[in-house]
Amino acid sequence: MTDALTIADFKERARRRVPKLFFDYADSGSYTESTYRANEDDFQKIKLRQRVLVDMTNRALESEMIGQKVAMPVALSPTGLTGMQRANGEMLAAKAAEDFGVPFTLSTMSICSIEDVASVTKKPFWFQLYVMQDRDFVLDLIDRAKAAKCSALILTLDLQILGQRHKDLRNGLTAPPKFTPKHIWQMATRPLWCLEMLGTQRRTFGNIYGHAKGVTDLATLNAWADEQFDPQLSWKDVAWIKERWGGKLILKGILDEEDATMALSTGADAIIVSNHGGRQLDGAPSSISMLPRIIDAVGDQMEVHLDGGIRSGQDVLKALCYGAKGTYIGRPFLYGLGAEGQSGVTKILEIIRKELDVTMALCGERNVRDLSRHNISKGLAQASGR
Ligand code: FNR
Repeated sequence: MTDALTIADFKERARRRVPKLFFDYADSGSYTESTYRANEDDFQKIKLRQRVLVDMTNRALESEMIGQKVAMPVALSPTGLTGMQRANGEMLAAKAAEDFGVPFTLSTMSICSIEDVASVTKKPFWFQLYVMQDRDFVLDLIDRAKAAKCSALILTLDLQILGQRHKDLRNGLTAPPKFTPKHIWQMATRPLWCLEMLGTQRRTFGNIYGHAKGVTDLATLNAWADEQFDPQLSWKDVAWIKERWGGKLILKGILDEEDATMALSTGADAIIVSNHGGRQLDGAPSSISMLPRIIDAVGDQMEVHLDGGIRSGQDVLKALCYGAKGTYIGRPFLYGLGAEGQSGVTKILEIIRKELDVTMALCGERNVRDLSRHNISKGLAQASGR
């Protein structure tokens, strides 16, 4: 088999390696998936200025996100059920990110627990928090993240009510997964996946099972997960969490200038311009299309990051040009993980690093920190009055 050269290559490999219900869980958006598609498509509409005869030596991709050094400004997004793409998936991805020098973010809805990931990593990772109705559970999660020395808390704001993903319903995917004969057949056609899964105990929500009140078995865990997201979450809760956490705080799921301006007053360290990878409000604009407006509104007062639709180093570069100080990849690292495990995640990061490096050079730049809107071509966009 030839080497996988692109993230799209890894996606196809993952499709062949991961049972359909879990591959589809990653590769889906809500309802018509229009926002999911727009996230990727809108990056293609942005064109870069090509510059020549400039010194391209000594290029640097290192940067900082919320004051922490990163080998390049690309972090791994929090993703639920990652340990179903591959056995022990969160632990493998965290190790790949640590070795590479970029942040790994563990989701509240992960399979491996905070303590599992802490046990295989030496450097601090980041933790993503969903605010549940059971506030004692939330406080306990925050304390566990502190005990594990997590160096940032990402508070997700855009999933207090769940957008429907048709593929998950059609596949009969429940949270946590309960397996029917159809699923067992799908898994039987992926024997390597099964073999690894049989070798681990981690097959349900590691941060919840054994920690949340009243959750004693799979049935109670299912009911708990269904009713726990809090539809009354408010800016006051953000202040409460910030105080309780006391460390670096990043607000995820901001897609509107007004919300970005509100976020300023919380004293958060950064916001992530995000529509949850097109998995929530179908019909929302792509993240990259909203980035310039949000940067104009708050970019000089707080750090702005972006996720959604990044499928290459060129996409990372475009987000940086528009003012993002950091970016995140969700599905790309899941495809690497599903296809090849830890080394697959490393290869995804390497692909992005090389693409970012060469693209930056061809734009006539030598340092990611120098990228700005002057690197964006006005070309046809200007002619069409955009
Ligand atoms: C997610 N996302 C997500 N976000 C979050 O805050 N907590 C979570 O548990 C999850 N779970 C999750 C599962 C899967 C399978 C996906 C694909 C995404 C959203 C994620 O953090 C991020 O916003 C998007 O994945 C970014 O878009 P791309 O890079 O996947 O296009």
